[in-house]
Amino acid sequence: MRHLMSPLDFTVEELDRLLDLANDIEKNPEKYAHACGGKILATLFYEPSTRTRLSFESAMLRLGGQVLGFSNAASSSAAKGESVSDTIRMISCYADICAMRHNKEGAPMVASRVSGIPVINAGDGGHQHPTQTLTDLLTIRSLKGRLNHLTIGLCGDLKFGRTVHSLINALVRYDHISFVFISPEELRIPDYIREDVLDARGVPYKEVERLEDVMGGLDILYMTRVQRERFFNEEDYVRLKDFYILDKKKMKLAGPDMLVLHPLPRVNEISVEVDSDPRAAYFRQVQYGVYVRMALILTLLEVEV
Ligand code: CP
Repeated sequence: MRHLMSPLDFTVEELDRLLDLANDIEKNPEKYAHACGGKILATLFYEPSTRTRLSFESAMLRLGGQVLGFSNAASSSAAKGESVSDTIRMISCYADICAMRHNKEGAPMVASRVSGIPVINAGDGGHQHPTQTLTDLLTIRSLKGRLNHLTIGLCGDLKFGRTVHSLINALVRYDHISFVFISPEELRIPDYIREDVLDARGVPYKEVERLEDVMGGLDILYMTRVQRERFFNEEDYVRLKDFYILDKKKMKLAGPDMLVLHPLPRVNEISVEVDSDPRAAYFRQVQYGVYVRMALILTLLEVEV
């Protein structure tokens, strides 16, 4: 039985096969419409979500399976003090596969150790968000035609942003990748990513504060939200929340083929006037999230179509 805790749980070859499967699902959805008949997905969300939970549920329903779960820890027995380990033991009796989001780093990993069913990390604190990374990889490969020879700018909260941490971990395995990290001093990429992931592999990167200075050299601009829920005090959040606002004026500095991605939700960091720019790919990214989660469910349940 396999779980998904980090994008590194799949080899590059396995990831290629998963993305190929997602592309086939996109082209031939009817072929997969009953693939998970009789199977149940549990969504255990201890932290708020719109996209991840609903795209998992949409994915299972589109595969002919069924879903159950909770969207709020307060409405589960976690509110009475039940541990994640005990909860997953119960859920293993009710479902065939589970997606778990938790505010504590490592909670899905703890669950996977005692689980009788595959556990998917749907985001754990400021640590990892592997299915967002699968979504990002599928979006980049589908729209750019490659996952190598790319300069990727990551902008915003690079310190607490789990989507950023997972994406860097995944992309360093491809050839000729370089990064531009765009953040205020307080939200710089953590040292463990800089040292253990980038320096260890000799991946080139630079760190800057001004988005305007680097727009022209990027293939991908990955915007992120400054996350109120990760700050220890409101004052710091208010000071940093509008540090970056991508607008039409800044988009004029970018190349004609640069793509703007964002895991969403956005607050103010991308002005709505950018939505109609053909380079804005963040809503297409959401659609790819359903296909890739369908492919992931099939892969972890070892369903062949
Ligand atoms: N991208 C993402 O994880 O969105 P949600 O928090 O709405 O699931």
